[in-house]
Amino acid sequence: LRILFLGDIVGRAGREAVLKHLPGLKARLKPDAVIINCENAAHGFGITESITQELIGAGADCLTSGNHIWDQRETLGHIAREPRLLRPINYPKGTPGHGKAMIETLAGKLLVINAMGRLYMPEALDDPFAAINRELETAPLGEGADAILIDFHAEATSEKQAMGHFCDGRASLVVGTHTHVPTADHMILPGGTAYLSDAGMCGDFDSVIGMKKADPIRRFTHKIPTARLEPAEGEGTLCGVFVVTGERGRARYVAPVRLGGKLEAYLPSVDL
Ligand SMILES: [Fe+2]
Ligand SMILES: [Fe+2]
Repeated sequence: LRILFLGDIVGRAGREAVLKHLPGLKARLKPDAVIINCENAAHGFGITESITQELIGAGADCLTSGNHIWDQRETLGHIAREPRLLRPINYPKGTPGHGKAMIETLAGKLLVINAMGRLYMPEALDDPFAAINRELETAPLGEGADAILIDFHAEATSEKQAMGHFCDGRASLVVGTHTHVPTADHMILPGGTAYLSDAGMCGDFDSVIGMKKADPIRRFTHKIPTARLEPAEGEGTLCGVFVVTGERGRARYVAPVRLGGKLEAYLPSVDL
């Protein structure tokens, strides 16, 4: 399978970057599936039902999320109606919504799993390693699914790298989200799992992780809480990762994707 994953959409700048660049990326890379982390899509905080449908309409086959998933109260209702919108799988039993989705593509079945890390995160959920292990044992790569993508929403690169190696050979791609800054460590691990510590955000990089700069700076310099942060409104950069799988769902190519806005553009090779 050919899989395009995009990192956290932050506000309108992020949504517009996706809407602007996704059609061209789809024409160029011909992905079988497009997965997007949407946890900051609604003005920086969570996702509404209408934005969910807008992103699905724009070509997303599945939306992942993270700690901001419940920021919009309405999400507790609409997440139950939309199996393509995921929340981390390691929320306690009984939490609304789903942490995984099996996506039928023309090239085969893609299992998407969303989990949240526990190190330096606002709330520590159930053990993400145990939760993911259960899923990988239930649907082994190449048997239960033709490809497996794990969006590991976490702060610490150590926890993310540990998750990558923990899943090596058992997933097609382990990609981190949440820090909103793309890392340069895309690689294929020894067992055949593509890995990237963080995909980076889809949002305006003239910002502090997607938010207008003045209030975050004031929080750091004066230690006085400010009003709720507002998303930056300049041209957004689309950030993500592109993976092509080969034998038994193992990755045979991985490359970052960056387009528009402040960051230097990077496009995967098309001769695959
Ligand atoms: Fe985020
Ligand atoms: Fe997050």
